[in-house]
Amino acid sequence: MARPRWLTRFSRVPIRARLTIASVAMMATVLAIAGVFLYAQFRSTLDAQIGDALHLQAADVGALVARGHSDAIASRGNPLTVGCRVGGCLAQVYRADGRLLASTAQAGAPRLLTPAQAGRAARRTQQFEFNAAPLGAVRVLAVPAHAPHDDGLAVAVADSVAPRDTELARLRTLLLIAGPVALLLAGIGGNELARAALRPVDRMRSRAERITERQLAERLPVSEAGDEIGALGRTLNAMLDRVEAAVAHERRVVSDASHELRTPLTTLRAEVDLALLGDRQKAELRAALESASQEAKRMSRLADDLLVLARADQGRLPLQPQPLAARELLEDAAGRARAGMEVRGRSITIGDVPAGCAVRADPDRSAQALDNLITNALLYGEGTITLSARGDREQVELHVTDEGHGFPDDLIPRAFERFGRGQHARGDQPGSGLGLALVEAVAVAHGGHAEVRNRPDGGADVSIALPRA
Ligand SMILES: Nc1ncnc2c1ncn2[C@@H]1O[C@H](COP(=O)(O)OP(=O)(O)OP(=O)(O)O)[C@@H](O)[C@H]1O
Ligand SMILES: [Mg+2]
Repeated sequence: MARPRWLTRFSRVPIRARLTIASVAMMATVLAIAGVFLYAQFRSTLDAQIGDALHLQAADVGALVARGHSDAIASRGNPLTVGCRVGGCLAQVYRADGRLLASTAQAGAPRLLTPAQAGRAARRTQQFEFNAAPLGAVRVLAVPAHAPHDDGLAVAVADSVAPRDTELARLRTLLLIAGPVALLLAGIGGNELARAALRPVDRMRSRAERITERQLAERLPVSEAGDEIGALGRTLNAMLDRVEAAVAHERRVVSDASHELRTPLTTLRAEVDLALLGDRQKAELRAALESASQEAKRMSRLADDLLVLARADQGRLPLQPQPLAARELLEDAAGRARAGMEVRGRSITIGDVPAGCAVRADPDRSAQALDNLITNALLYGEGTITLSARGDREQVELHVTDEGHGFPDDLIPRAFERFGRGQHARGDQPGSGLGLALVEAVAVAHGGHAEVRNRPDGGADVSIALPRA
């Protein structure tokens, strides 16, 4: 259902103004209902008082008529005057044909009943109000009456309603003054309440304006009260914690990357400068160029790895997954590594691989990940390197294990971090600490994961889980 236009427009009004308007509107509704109820109640009470007095009066006069003393009412005192209310007001006795038999003595007193009304009143009680000039508005009660020799009479008594109308007018004035005052108070109160409720939000907003990339340590002021705004502040602060940690991590990676690039660049420049110095032998020049080429290779590998990681971070690592038999994948990797193994006097074997076990993966990326793991086992492990696979219904884990000392304990939780290296590895080994990060990025890009652990009987066990084909 379409949202009404006024509601859309209202939702654009500032919250404080909206709360104020709402509280005034609520107060106005309550006041209107209470005012109408009060007025009606007051009016009916006053009317009942007039009615009761008239009934007493009519009974009085009726009794006189019944005893044949209709004329006596002429001498009854208290003729109707403006302001007279209860008792002793204007009374008249009529015949059913409308003839006025008797009336309280009063100069210029008007007839209370027309002949037709007198005829009806002789049969049934009548009650009405009318403007009885010159007396003003009166309430008339006319009841049937009986004289000793005259049935079918009507007694009419009347009382002024002016005092009632004055009271009601006074009440109306009171309500008309008190209502707007109450509304004004409700408006001020609602506005102040909203301002107080929104003050923490205002404080949070002005602090948030100060938080920039350079000022990430700032946090929003959070009130102690366990209210919704406090909860919002705590949630936002937790988010800032995460943002700060992520930015710090990025900065560390950038600084590590530049540091890693500086070493080969320095070496490269030194080699070139040395080669340019004076007359060099051909062999010396060749050695310098070979060393320069080594460093250039190292830098370009570093740049490649960083690019792959950056793409993986953005979810843009290009993959062409296809079904690959696990045994074939592992055997190919072992084949590629074998030459390097023999040079170092190490061996590589294929362990358990369930028959028919296959993964769905990009051939180049999965081979790159396995190569990284095998190189690590070769550089940091000892003994035989074993490649194996085990799978469940959804994933296949490819394991690379060795028989060395395993990962240093403090490295295990951050083995997959970029530039995370063991103490032993820095300096004497050429790596930069991106290999395992890349392995994990490849696994995650396939919807899998990677894991490092040390085997109970010694040696590292690094696995990569890929989706089953
Ligand atoms: N099989 C292993 N046994 C013991 N320690 C290992 C093993 N594999 C990795 N490590 C430790 O984990 C660290 C991180 O490995 P990673 O492959 O990420 O980086 P690297 O090999 O140092 O550098 P890169 O792979 O980028 O050339 C290594 O420096 C090493 O200390
Ligand atoms: Mg490595």
